[in-house]
Amino acid sequence: MAKKNSTVFVCSGCGYESSKWLGRCPSCNEWNTFYEEKIMKNISASKDKLKQRGEVVSLKKIERKETFRIKTGIGELDRVLGGGFVTGSLTLLGGEPGIGKSTLILQICQRIKLEDNILYVSGEESAEQIKLRADRLGVQNDRLLFLAETDIDYVEEALEKTNAKFIIIDSVQTMYAEEITSAAGSVSQVREITARIMKMCKQKGITTVIIGHVTKDGNIAGPRVLEHMVDTVLYLEGERYFSYRILRGVKNRFGSTNEIGMFEMQNDGLVEITNPSSILISNREDGNPSGSVIVVSLEGTRPLVLELQALSTPTVFGIPRRNASGVDYNRLTLLMAVLEKRAGMNFGSQDVYINLVGGIKINEPALDLGIIIAAASSFKNISIKEDVVIIGEVGLTGEVRAVNMIEKRIKESEKLGYKTCIIPESNKKVLKESFKLDIIGVKNIVEAMKFLNLK
Ligand code: TYD
Ligand code: MG
Repeated sequence: MAKKNSTVFVCSGCGYESSKWLGRCPSCNEWNTFYEEKIMKNISASKDKLKQRGEVVSLKKIERKETFRIKTGIGELDRVLGGGFVTGSLTLLGGEPGIGKSTLILQICQRIKLEDNILYVSGEESAEQIKLRADRLGVQNDRLLFLAETDIDYVEEALEKTNAKFIIIDSVQTMYAEEITSAAGSVSQVREITARIMKMCKQKGITTVIIGHVTKDGNIAGPRVLEHMVDTVLYLEGERYFSYRILRGVKNRFGSTNEIGMFEMQNDGLVEITNPSSILISNREDGNPSGSVIVVSLEGTRPLVLELQALSTPTVFGIPRRNASGVDYNRLTLLMAVLEKRAGMNFGSQDVYINLVGGIKINEPALDLGIIIAAASSFKNISIKEDVVIIGEVGLTGEVRAVNMIEKRIKESEKLGYKTCIIPESNKKVLKESFKLDIIGVKNIVEAMKFLNLK
């Protein structure tokens, strides 16, 4: 009889399993993410599944338990969560190392509106280190208990003793369960840890936040392998050398996932940015240089007025380069093709660089017209007046298509003092409100370019 495999190769990015090593994961397409792991038959999560039999009940008869939300006291975070943590829910907070996850969580511990004990379990920092950080952040919560531990058995024991109603695991990759032989941070470890925490907390109605590191090299299992298990997934993003941080909801069983929260990392921790539009525009006192336009994006319910910059320069080597930072690269190449064909601008021997100011990333078609105008403005070396805002999606025939929630976008631009707003004609026709700024409706990119003296 052939010997049965006792190990399996697992992708640390998405958890895909294969009996042999693969260079590239067929599921998430990442390179070099496969690690060998022992096959564990007695993983407690799967064992428990057999013991707990579910009953078939009619939907009508299911009683709804009242859900309470615990306000975190941080407005930006509460909005992303849909009004605070739902009691008894499991939240995963992911992000690159050093982005500020532990800082954010510690700040929550200070401001959270909760009368019960909070247990902070850290496998990364010692009690003294946490104390140092807490002092720096001004965290003085008598109900905050701390445990430096990596063995999940002890964490469970501590939770039993302390009677905490809010628990933080920092981070899931440092915890280990003894019955699993693979190293801490491997796919089977992080899954097992999460399953055990989940079971414990759901039974007792404890609200849990699990912190997970995301690394590009895939040495440790990413939080993506856990996304399906938890109720809410939040990612803290940002460029390491920029001070702005964006908190994004990727999954939320109790609210919308469109909202983002903005923070700035300062000396005394993360500070909320309640008016992000004003910081995302560079200092433009001495007129507007060519290639810079103002666009409005909508993240969830909140409009963001942003500056978009383009630079077009003659190509030195044969093939022209396209470079997009903050916007989608493929979208940029498509828009450049539209601009060439429909407006007759020849970018064949031009490199084009696009940048969203502030180090943030937006993937929204409403920025299309802005990208086209910025590129044309840089190409012709004609600047756009600094009080003009550009909104619109562009189709392959060069038509400017309607975008959603146009009133909200215009209102935000008006609030910030812009005087002219270029929007899709189809949006203009159905505008319900009247605005103080001039609204120009355009049907296609050529109309917009003519209005801005680019054609
Ligand atoms: P941290 O919360 O430890 O990151 P993570 O838990 O995601 O790994 O954040 C660490 C970074 O934040 C560190 O490089 C220093 C910076 N920082 C500040 O700038 N100000 C502060 O008040 C704190 C606590 C950290
Ligand atoms: Mg940390």
